Amino acid sequence: MTILGLPPSLYPKSPAHFDIEKVIRPNILALHPYRCARDDYSEGILLDANENALGHSIPSSSTQKATQSEPELAPELQSTLSLDLHRYPSPTHDPIKSRLAELRGIPGPEFVFLGVGSDEVIDLLMRVCVAPEREKILITPPTYGMYAVCAQVNDVGIVKVPLELSGNNGEGGEHGRFSVRIEEVKKAVDADPTIKLIFLCSPGNPTGTLVPLSTVRSLLEYENFKGIVVVDEAYIDFAGSEASAVSLVKEYANLCVMQTLSKSFGLAAIRLGIALAHPALIQILMNTKAPYNISTPTASLALSALSPSAVDAMRDKVATLVASRGQLLAKLTELAPLGLGAAVGGNDANFVMVPVLEKSGNGRPDNARAQAIYKRLAEEEGVVVRYRGGEPGCAGCLRITVGSAEENEVLLSRLGELLRKV
Ligand SMILES: Cc1ncc(COP(=O)(O)O)c(C=O)c1O
Repeated sequence: MTILGLPPSLYPKSPAHFDIEKVIRPNILALHPYRCARDDYSEGILLDANENALGHSIPSSSTQKATQSEPELAPELQSTLSLDLHRYPSPTHDPIKSRLAELRGIPGPEFVFLGVGSDEVIDLLMRVCVAPEREKILITPPTYGMYAVCAQVNDVGIVKVPLELSGNNGEGGEHGRFSVRIEEVKKAVDADPTIKLIFLCSPGNPTGTLVPLSTVRSLLEYENFKGIVVVDEAYIDFAGSEASAVSLVKEYANLCVMQTLSKSFGLAAIRLGIALAHPALIQILMNTKAPYNISTPTASLALSALSPSAVDAMRDKVATLVASRGQLLAKLTELAPLGLGAAVGGNDANFVMVPVLEKSGNGRPDNARAQAIYKRLAEEEGVVVRYRGGEPGCAGCLRITVGSAEENEVLLSRLGELLRKV
């Protein structure tokens, strides 16, 4: 079998134990992708895609008089209206892919896939690799909830190998709290050859803990695992570029790194997720996706966000948030006498996780108190954090996103007040 659209020179060669044609579902390998109008021509008098030749009908502010029932169009929408909105978007968005390849130091756009958020990439990976009812994914709780939700939607099984939950060896690394228990993962894979995808999250959500590259490499090289290791790096820019598994993409065709513009780039609303992987897997994802998954407004904003000046500005904001994270952590320790525990996890993302302890001062995490504080913070104080006490190894924990300096001040004072009261 061949992978449609993949030049023979790009068939994966390493690692030797990986055969992509055994990982991808036969129905996907056999697929003749939908050939959309924009695959063939995108210039000239375009009468090939049944678009509306007269364009959209949203009045611009110059042609529309504001009335009470129809207030004037928001000025910031004007530039969006000047895009070719009556045309279908590009099916490939190569300029965005080229900028991402350059930014992340990978060979070229053929290593990049764009999805409607990482959430689409997660779903697509399951659909192309894991047969419903028969095959499985492996996750390492506590982790991002969408892997399990998506598995359930696609009717694929879930094998759970929890992260190391004890705090006896510090945080993260190869053996500390929230590290991946490599030997246990390998045992699970040995016991169940139907596992096709291993999802790792680095830095983890909600743990904030990086997965060391040595751990990723160890799973990529494990000959008994014939599937794909997926490393979700939604928060990687808050951790430093040397921590990214992207550096392994050229070497290992059985690796898929997911990133997103939702976090460091501050563009959660446009829904742009990214998969960085060997061209063979990228070609499979391209063959399977909906033809026009990325909209023109999203593509236009993404391209701007990836310009050199915007990337510099993104890095400045990340540096500010990382500094604020340090200040927030320091101020949270001042709440210890009120029954707030030391932050758990690696603190390598744009959030921190702190356990609420029993009021008695015995140092034990207290889910009921944490939940009460979470609810009152949101409903009485207007400060919304996330309760994570139900996750393994996260008893009593609140996950707090690093906000602006003012937001962090408000959070700290309201949390302090509630810890006194509850
Ligand atoms: C680990 C992780 N992956 C992926 C996502 C979703 O990313 P996107 O907005 O690109 O769908 C999130 C969002 O919170 C996340 O925490």
